[in-house]
Amino acid sequence: MTWSPDSWRSRPATQQAQYPDEGAVRAVVEQIRRLPPLVTSWEVEALRGELAKAARGESFVLQGGDCAESFDDCSPEPVAAKLKILMQMSLVLVHAARKPVVRIGRIAGQYAKPRSADHETRGDVTLPAYRGDLVNQDGFTPEERTPDPVLMLRGYERAALTLNFIRALTDGGFADLHHPEYWDLSFAKGSPHAESYERIVESIRDSVNFVASVANVDTHLMRRVDVYTSHEGLALPYEEAATRVVPRRPGHYNLSTHLPWIGMRTAQLDGAHVEFHRGLRNPLGIKVGAAMTSDWLARLLDVLDPDNEPGRITLIHRMGAAHVTKKLPELLGAVAKLGRQVLWICDPMHGNTETTPGGIKTRHFDNILSELEQSFTVHRDHGSELGGVHFEMTGEDVTECIGGARGLTEGDLERAYKSRVDPRLNYEQALEMAMKIAQHLRKRPNR
Ligand code: PEP
Ligand code: CO
Repeated sequence: MTWSPDSWRSRPATQQAQYPDEGAVRAVVEQIRRLPPLVTSWEVEALRGELAKAARGESFVLQGGDCAESFDDCSPEPVAAKLKILMQMSLVLVHAARKPVVRIGRIAGQYAKPRSADHETRGDVTLPAYRGDLVNQDGFTPEERTPDPVLMLRGYERAALTLNFIRALTDGGFADLHHPEYWDLSFAKGSPHAESYERIVESIRDSVNFVASVANVDTHLMRRVDVYTSHEGLALPYEEAATRVVPRRPGHYNLSTHLPWIGMRTAQLDGAHVEFHRGLRNPLGIKVGAAMTSDWLARLLDVLDPDNEPGRITLIHRMGAAHVTKKLPELLGAVAKLGRQVLWICDPMHGNTETTPGGIKTRHFDNILSELEQSFTVHRDHGSELGGVHFEMTGEDVTECIGGARGLTEGDLERAYKSRVDPRLNYEQALEMAMKIAQHLRKRPNR
């Protein structure tokens, strides 16, 4: 059972691009291999420590960002907007949970997507499916849909640019969120919760100002925040190219991201993705859908976390509002019985995707919230800890999900639907979601 960064190649690899020229793929992989890493092993180690704390209930994880980042959005406004909503949501959660919040973006590398079909047919033309900007282009021509390995290089570079900007912003006072103009609550006007949202923000502002004046720390320290990155570890040649040994630590690190996760479609026990990830020192996420069984999960944990290491595994459950109360308890029971210290977080997006009669992929705010609320309850009833949440969201004013205080309807979806894959919460919906979770967390007895 020896592992190497390329031992996945002897296993069946699903969801991979079919490149016309393998030589060109090897050349790109070699180039990426020589580039500096995007993150460092000590950051990765720090995140593992943070996740271990969250698993013990000492902190709360907020993971969020695009379903699929696009190369076009590698520009200042969208990146700053994503960071801003992540920061604001995290402040709302810190305040409600009375615990530190670990911020993890689906960002700086979330460029590859699993698809339900390998091909797409329009009329009498059939072409390879769009698999994310790391692989091919969204346009429906043979040129655009043919996987191009150079896009991996472009993706690595854009991830680096994105991360560089994030690091500069988070280091330079961007987190200084007590300015009133930072919080746009206009969407809540007229909603029955408007006042309660105002109070939450007011009280966050007060706390920030209070700490700053009493502790006299209106300085670098209070403004600097950590933001970690994550993406689905899907395109294996790319992930392999970013996997390295470092000078003073044993093992291999995937230094394209802090937290890679294994998606639901690639979690086969004997598959290439499980083989690849088992050898990494990074903490690992695993998506857990309604089809997951206790036995499958137990074996995944044996393979991916043989030492039951604190912080190693984050189980991201995404069952759907209609299934979570029925399906989750068995898995919680099985994992507890094995004595495993995993971190559980809830992705209330992916089990609640639906298609409108007009053929648009969407999600209802109320279903997303319902899955979250049920999840908190199921965990509490089973003596388990829901240690975080995972959202597909953007800092922009898109219209992709239905509902929320502004009451977006099916008819609004066409107005500003930008996602190429799954529908995201927009700025207002994401902030409102954080407020709803806050109301929920505050009702919980403090553990
Ligand atoms: C995703 O997170 O975008 C995704 C594809 O999720 P899942 O593997 O849970 O379907
Ligand atoms: Co998605």
